[in-house]
Amino acid sequence: MIQEVIVTTQNADGIAHIAPMGIHVKDNEFIILPFRPSTTLANILQSKTAVINYCDDVRIFAGCLTGRRDWPLSKTEKITGHFLASSLAHRELELLRIEEDETRPKLYCKAVYTANHTPFLGFNRAQYAVLEAAILVSRLNMLPLKKIETEVEYLAIGLNKTAGDRELEAWGWLMAVIEQHKQELAQA
Ligand SMILES: Cc1cc2nc3c(=O)[nH]c(=O)nc-3n(C[C@H](O)[C@H](O)[C@H](O)COP(=O)(O)O)c2cc1C
Repeated sequence: MIQEVIVTTQNADGIAHIAPMGIHVKDNEFIILPFRPSTTLANILQSKTAVINYCDDVRIFAGCLTGRRDWPLSKTEKITGHFLASSLAHRELELLRIEEDETRPKLYCKAVYTANHTPFLGFNRAQYAVLEAAILVSRLNMLPLKKIETEVEYLAIGLNKTAGDRELEAWGWLMAVIEQHKQELAQA
């Protein structure tokens, strides 16, 4: 099972970093798989800790991909670090072991603290659409433009039927980046 979450980490100076990651959950272990190079990876290797944030504000996922990483944070309970103030729940993790890989190492972690902050309010298609569009944006230079356009067209159906203000704002940020990418391709 892969869960799309926001991972918060911090460097040796205590500077927090937030990044969307698809984490794998197996038995009682949480596996974070950052592609090299990655600030999240460097921070976890240095601090041996991380926080996973379960979050339904998709602006944070889209924001991280479009240069908007400044989201309110609160101090963690059991480890030195931060969690997203708007998370529905968060888990504080300690690094157990690393499975090395040149491209994408696996960081096996265990939870040392979990807190629920606010209830999950149900699935929403627009949130799914924003997550998928954010993944497209994270792979903009690897995917053919035609595939991006086709997928955006499909995702826009669910988005337009079910979005609230947050989802529309997040979608707008992502579409601006895709538009910019199209213009750059046209000029190349
Ligand atoms: C839903 C979602 C899931 C993602 N999952 C991963 C992941 O598992 N590993 C990864 O390296 N990047 C993932 N990304 C892309 C990263 O969030 C993005 O490239 C980020 O900047 C990671 O690099 P950093 O640690 O240097 O911030 C994901 C993006 C989205 C929107």
